[in-house]
Amino acid sequence: MLRWTDPYTTMDDKWRSQFVCLDDFETRSSELLPQRTWVYYSSGAGDEDTLRENRDAFRRYWLKPRVLRDVSVRDMSTTVLGEKIDMPICISPTAFHGLAHPEGEIATCKAAADMKTLMILSAGSTTSLEDITAARPTSAKWQDIYFWPDRTATRDMVKRAEIAGFKAIVVTVDIPEIGSRRKHIQVFGKSLQPLQPGMQLKNLKKYMNQSSDSIDDGKQFAKSDNRSTWRDIAWLKTMTTLPIVLKGILTVEDAILAAEHHVQAIMVSNHGARQLDSVPATIDVLSEIVAAVGDKLEVYVDGGVRTGTDVLKALALGARAVFIGRPVLFGLACNGEEGVKAVLHILREELSTAMALTGCSRLRDISRDLVTTKSCWSKL
Ligand code: FNR
Repeated sequence: MLRWTDPYTTMDDKWRSQFVCLDDFETRSSELLPQRTWVYYSSGAGDEDTLRENRDAFRRYWLKPRVLRDVSVRDMSTTVLGEKIDMPICISPTAFHGLAHPEGEIATCKAAADMKTLMILSAGSTTSLEDITAARPTSAKWQDIYFWPDRTATRDMVKRAEIAGFKAIVVTVDIPEIGSRRKHIQVFGKSLQPLQPGMQLKNLKKYMNQSSDSIDDGKQFAKSDNRSTWRDIAWLKTMTTLPIVLKGILTVEDAILAAEHHVQAIMVSNHGARQLDSVPATIDVLSEIVAAVGDKLEVYVDGGVRTGTDVLKALALGARAVFIGRPVLFGLACNGEEGVKAVLHILREELSTAMALTGCSRLRDISRDLVTTKSCWSKL
């Protein structure tokens, strides 16, 4: 339901006609971005089987449209951990937005705020969390953290996020080591990261060697402490009253442990297939996880969401909201803040259309029986 002037409608028609779906942003980004940045953003781990599967798996679910229902008004608004958003499509944390556009995460934050949705700021951002708040003091935002070997840095970031008005802490739990990202090794060698000299991990700068601008100083922050355990969740809960989201859950067993540790939400995620290759597509494990813990905490999903029908399928399989990673980076690369708005706009409009064509006018109309698998459908 459009309740405000959609920022996308003010964009130049010629520009808009070049970008009609999310894949258009990816294609154009591959031409625009320096090769190093393109490889850093687009690639996955190992043979990239999971990277392909994250998208292919969506195509194995089919929709069962219902007709003759009044769909004249569609309301896609919802809440995530109490935060009101206008659509169930939010932004996953991705590092280094400064590589895509000079305004970096500031542009992303403004786009998310204008489209009335939520952004998770990566721990590895090229903008500090304080600068994000200064740019849009009341925007909906959560802060991504890792359990770094120096827990003082973790605690300090949580406290800074509280002061700056971030509304939840997102702990990335799937990165005790960095996945085998072969393409990264080919392009960046041992440093495994694409930052250009002078570009800084602004959110983490204060914990690094102050005497140097060297990008290598950020290495210790690129992954979690590989000794961290569920005890660290208990530790985190002693120091903040903000809700906690665990990002990177892929099994029912870990989802149950998350519920037992009283976190408020989990994100079913395989880190955009950048960590362990050969894990399942997130959409394929979503419904069993929702069945196990969906009544105890909020469940979100990310990984390979590129179309409105992908969003609809994820919601039907039990996600409260979906998150997108790479499409935001590609929107940013193509046209900064406007590009990110366009990505969010296109996905929202595609969801709205898909809802109308399946007979849903509100998110609560989207139920499990809206989707079937390809094989079930052909047996009918
Ligand atoms: C990521 N991701 C990520 N996750 C996280 O928890 N903290 C981070 O700093 C990053 N950084 C990051 C950088 C880049 C370039 C990518 C592509 C991904 C993972 C991200 O949050 C998300 O899980 C995936 O990107 C979702 O998959 P899609 O939407 O990219 O297919």
